[in-house]
Amino acid sequence: MKRHILFVDDEPNILKGLQRSLRPLRKQWEMVFADSAANALECLEKDSFDVIVSDMKMPQMDGAQLLRVVQKKYPMVVRIILSGHSDQEMIMKSVKSAHRYLAKPCEKQVLVDAVDRVCYLRDVLNAKSLQYVIAGIDVMPILPGLYTQIMEELNSQDASVASVGEIIAKDIGMTAKVLQLVNSSFFGMPRHVASLMDAVILLGIDVVKTLVLSIEVFAKFRETTMSILPIPKIYDHCVRTGVIAKKIAGLEKMSKEESDNTMITGILHDLGRMLLAENFPDEYREVMDYVKKYGVDTHDAELEILGVTHAHIGGYLLGLWGLPDNIVEGVTFHHTPSDNTVKEFSICGLVHVADLMEHHEQMMPNGWDRLNGLDTDYLDRYDLTKRIPLWRDFLQKK
Ligand SMILES: [Fe+2]
Ligand SMILES: [Fe+2]
Repeated sequence: MKRHILFVDDEPNILKGLQRSLRPLRKQWEMVFADSAANALECLEKDSFDVIVSDMKMPQMDGAQLLRVVQKKYPMVVRIILSGHSDQEMIMKSVKSAHRYLAKPCEKQVLVDAVDRVCYLRDVLNAKSLQYVIAGIDVMPILPGLYTQIMEELNSQDASVASVGEIIAKDIGMTAKVLQLVNSSFFGMPRHVASLMDAVILLGIDVVKTLVLSIEVFAKFRETTMSILPIPKIYDHCVRTGVIAKKIAGLEKMSKEESDNTMITGILHDLGRMLLAENFPDEYREVMDYVKKYGVDTHDAELEILGVTHAHIGGYLLGLWGLPDNIVEGVTFHHTPSDNTVKEFSICGLVHVADLMEHHEQMMPNGWDRLNGLDTDYLDRYDLTKRIPLWRDFLQKK
């Protein structure tokens, strides 16, 4: 299936350059080039597109404004900003409306990979309802207490990277947003970053402050959401899952990068639940009632009522944002690691086990003999079922 991509730039030379260098892709991509935001909106009116790639600085209507309109009127279109490095302040304006930021001049391959990746995720997690739900997600909810805490730290004279990183790591929404920024090629990071401390160092405290201050991006959880889900409990569960997964990663001698990614995947694994409850409270209340009534797992109830699961929602969104693939897969398949197309034991499997261990630890502190919901086919494939008691003993000793 051909992808429909809309490119917007007011510089005729840049537009021509893009047209020329992307010509070899014309069999896979149907490309339209617009020289202004107004023109782009006209094109969107006439045709449907999968992705829009827009310049930032443009007269009349800039890239951030354009993407905001696109977000409202055509929420299913994936939004990418292509911007010069000098526009750091500008880029922060688009934190809410853009899924990805790419730096200008952008290597052709980076652009192609970014577009292909978002389209691939759409294909894999094909459900229309998924795209519909993602399109309906507006703000990133965060815990009120943590918001106050991070503001105090950022405003203090001697705000330290370590303490800012630590507070962010306790908040799922902030973690996701900071990693989105740091992993965009815009900030020119040489590799994927999954350690929050590194992220804060690389972005600088000022950028983090601008991000946290942009009230448009974050909002405190609504009362309704808190009445549907035990949010603070889920937060604890996520952070603890991250810690457990990281400890097991250490025991299994995974690299530092992998174990950092494991921790982050743990923290983010249930992001989708919070986004669903916050943005679709009525439907999510129904999900929770269904769980109670029929005693099924949350993700089965979600499938029944919403047609998508929180795992897919979280994974898809993080994928759109350009987080490292293994984190995206880890979140997407944390309930069903067998569905992951990556054929090796990876972060996804670790987080699957850590998630269940954390749940069981809460419910039956002294016994995890059988982990309900464990994807044994998957673990058997890697001959790992027998390692679970070992992991358990290791964790209990600590
Ligand atoms: Fe989950
Ligand atoms: Fe979980």
